[in-house]
Amino acid sequence: MRVLSGIQPTGRFHWGNYFGAIRQYIDLQDEADDAFYFIANLHALTTVRDPAELRQLTLDAALDLVALGLDPDRATLFVQSDVPEISELCWLLMTGTSMGLLERCHAYKDKKARGVAADAGLFTYPVLQAADILGYDSDTVPVGDDQVQHIEVCRDLAGSFNHQFGETFVMPKAYVIDTSARVPGVDGEKMSKSYGNTLEVFEEPKLLRKAIMRIKTDSRPMDQPKEPEGDHLFDLYSLYADDTQRDELAATYRRGGFGYGEVKKALAELAVEFFAEARDRRLELEARPETIRQILGDGAAKARAKAAEVLARAQQACGVWSSG
Ligand code: TRP
Repeated sequence: MRVLSGIQPTGRFHWGNYFGAIRQYIDLQDEADDAFYFIANLHALTTVRDPAELRQLTLDAALDLVALGLDPDRATLFVQSDVPEISELCWLLMTGTSMGLLERCHAYKDKKARGVAADAGLFTYPVLQAADILGYDSDTVPVGDDQVQHIEVCRDLAGSFNHQFGETFVMPKAYVIDTSARVPGVDGEKMSKSYGNTLEVFEEPKLLRKAIMRIKTDSRPMDQPKEPEGDHLFDLYSLYADDTQRDELAATYRRGGFGYGEVKKALAELAVEFFAEARDRRLELEARPETIRQILGDGAAKARAKAAEVLARAQQACGVWSSG
């Protein structure tokens, strides 16, 4: 079974990214025979238009993932653009893709509705995603539920290619990861880069403490009890607390006689501690840039070998001349 997923480097990872997705991708490396993870920099190019920023975010994403536990001995990590075969495969798929199929995609429709000027890259984004998946004979694609439609598009494209040209692609399945962990941002809304309310995984501890102290709370008097259910500070604390700590805080809330400041301090301590090892590992990796280069180089070589094989199969099937 090959598990594959792509992660867009559009911003520094925040708690929502970690608890909603990254942690689960990393856990899957132990269950899959073969796990491929890549930094989807070509997809990010549809939104990040500053070259230095895109370069930096791509490298940061790789460093972050390895620091957080993605193990290059167990999973293959690479940068999307290091495998040009995928872009070529994308074209082969593009020729059979109906406009209507892409016009129905929510991600595209939503952006268009918000007045984002759509370019061809944004419109054909799901076709590149399909090439990413099909190009490595992937069986299982872990994604959040917002990406399920894109996997359906991929299956659709694989099916019609196979139907037209003969069995070529492995039919992949979405593996919908549990994104139900409630990760509110500092304003209590869902944590999201576009809301500007994030707390970053690799934020410097001093700055993280400051950001946590700025989490919005209501103006309840100290002695008044409070229901923990649905309180965003309590939800954030619960991400890091063990059951006992969580129950204790719930009891404190219900008893009253506490200030939000204490809860924020406790949250900051737990969060800093939780990522301490990853932070150290990241500093080490940063100090030896050749390590990550090597990891990404090895990953790309392995991914390219597989993609070249699938591309040749697809070229052969549809009659695109391949002298190889
Ligand atoms: N579109 C995905 C996202 O925004 C990222 C992605 C690109 C991806 N290619 C992929 C995910 C292939 C799974 C498989 O989250």
